[in-house]
Amino acid sequence: MSNSTSPSNPQRTLPADYSAQVQHSALKKWVSEMVALAQPNEVYWCDGSEEEYNLMCRRLVAAGTFIPLHAEKRPNSYACFSDPSDVARVEDRTYICSKRKEDAGPTNNWMDPTAMKETLRPLLQGCMKGRTLFVIPFCMGPMGSDISQIGVEISDSEYVVTNMRIMTRMGRAALDQLGNNKPFVKAFHTVGAPLADGQADVSWPCNPAVKYIVHYPEERSIVSYGSGYGGNALLGKKCFALRIAGVMARDEDWLAEHMLILGAKSPTGDKTYVAAAFPSACGKTNFAMLIPPAAMKGWEITTVGDDIAWIKVGKDGRLYAINPEAGYFGVAPGTNYKTNPNAMATIRANSIFTNVGVTPNGDVWWEGMDHDCPPGTINWKGQVHDPSAGQPVAHPNARFTAPAAQCPSLDPAWEDPQGVPISAFIFGGRRSTTVPLVYQSANWNFGVYAASTIGSEMTAAAFGEVGKVRRDPFAMLPFCGYHMADYFNHWLQFGRKLRNPPRIFITNWFRKDPSGQFLWPGYGDNMRVLEWIIGRVRGLTGAVESPVGWMPTYDDINWDGLDFSREQFEAIMHVDRETWKNEVVNHDELFSKMYDKLPKEYIFMRELILSSLWRSPEKWGLAPEQD
Ligand code: OXD
Ligand code: MN
Repeated sequence: MSNSTSPSNPQRTLPADYSAQVQHSALKKWVSEMVALAQPNEVYWCDGSEEEYNLMCRRLVAAGTFIPLHAEKRPNSYACFSDPSDVARVEDRTYICSKRKEDAGPTNNWMDPTAMKETLRPLLQGCMKGRTLFVIPFCMGPMGSDISQIGVEISDSEYVVTNMRIMTRMGRAALDQLGNNKPFVKAFHTVGAPLADGQADVSWPCNPAVKYIVHYPEERSIVSYGSGYGGNALLGKKCFALRIAGVMARDEDWLAEHMLILGAKSPTGDKTYVAAAFPSACGKTNFAMLIPPAAMKGWEITTVGDDIAWIKVGKDGRLYAINPEAGYFGVAPGTNYKTNPNAMATIRANSIFTNVGVTPNGDVWWEGMDHDCPPGTINWKGQVHDPSAGQPVAHPNARFTAPAAQCPSLDPAWEDPQGVPISAFIFGGRRSTTVPLVYQSANWNFGVYAASTIGSEMTAAAFGEVGKVRRDPFAMLPFCGYHMADYFNHWLQFGRKLRNPPRIFITNWFRKDPSGQFLWPGYGDNMRVLEWIIGRVRGLTGAVESPVGWMPTYDDINWDGLDFSREQFEAIMHVDRETWKNEVVNHDELFSKMYDKLPKEYIFMRELILSSLWRSPEKWGLAPEQD
């Protein structure tokens, strides 16, 4: 099919592409099958150039999707509003279609792959009528790295093309890595809104009623239908880099994790890299871009990634991690110059803002910005904001898409094809009680057990009873592409082969006092906890044994510049016997669901934690009285 032009609307005209030169026969075959199925008006192979990006933006402006922002305040940036039915990942519409149900496990929706293909076929037939089919080759990870992987997304959305260019290494260069016959992940995406002849388009095409986000793990392929938003549509991210890559990692002995990666340079110049997993909306981007408090002179944090880590064993037996992404798809509300100055600098230009407010002077605004909402701001529903109506300006899941290369704290090795050596894993939940600020697990196995039990208290009724702990093992609950207990086994097995495994730590920035106030200041002060963690890894800082693991005493933490008393420390670190008995019993609620494959070690580790709760004294000497 040739590239047709639209003389009536020059903004939509596509240049000739390079499809005639593509040699990869499996790729050509797949694309032509998909073209025959989806029946688009035209087909265009993306080259990833800046001109092409600008053309896509012009098409989106012409379609009423993109609103250009002020050329000086927010250069080369756009805002857009999604359909109100299409604002977030749709976990209940997300499927793992492994051949066997037991390979998907109890935490995933499953359907037989043949049955799913039959369900999807009538939906996909003609699904791109009236639209352009874009072929989007992309590389997850630095070009040429042994840890990187190639995918090709087919999509009928210019919004996807623009976001994929920011979030991945997208275009012809990615295709060149494939050569003529290397394997690639097939990712088919449609907004599911074909246009009849002459039918006018809407600014955010999607299918408000029907959505499917489908993974075929054995085929290493993805089909996404009906949504244009975020992780539903930018298939390199959660679908490929976590769910499909997780299965590849299990089969090939590596790790694909929902983790940020940061580098920490100490005042003496030593560099330590750590990877950390927190459930969604627990501040991963803020931690990855942390700015240490002024009093902690000499510490510097650099960012390798804010969401996903792919990790392999290096020749020296250490673990090496890459960030498979090239940009940040961050939650906008709550981001400001106090919570995350580096993110604010990153989104100064060349960014896409989805479902934020647009101010009368052509800038963006969201809840938690450093200044009040300017009168006349347009909210994410496209209406002038009425402060008396009690509606937010930005959708709570409003996002920015920004290039990693613009981040002031970017680590110099972020594109090193070898990856960066990981010395510690951190797992954190959002718990108002029970879990202390920080502890180090006794060993790898206990760390894997603890990571399996992290969770967040539910703040929205969407997921169940407010206040109840939603277990989110390894922060992977929505992202594990196979049986969660097989995933635990994979971690245990992986650790057995490591000569000097990274140490594993648990954190909880969110513990509250009885009046409901957060006990820990968070943000930059998390550096104090990180300093202790790095000290443990390097054998520099002390700890005492507690029933759950090793803990810092008050004197093991650097308090320069922060007024935090021994009593406050005791309150945030206390491991209470009764609460923990309950906690350990509650672990079973999760584990009993996956009893068929639960590692046998978990039963024993649970018992060992229970038995150590009977050790005296009940307080672990964390904040000893001063002489
Ligand atoms: C994300 C998430 O969007 O974890 O990164 O939900
Ligand atoms: Mn995430």
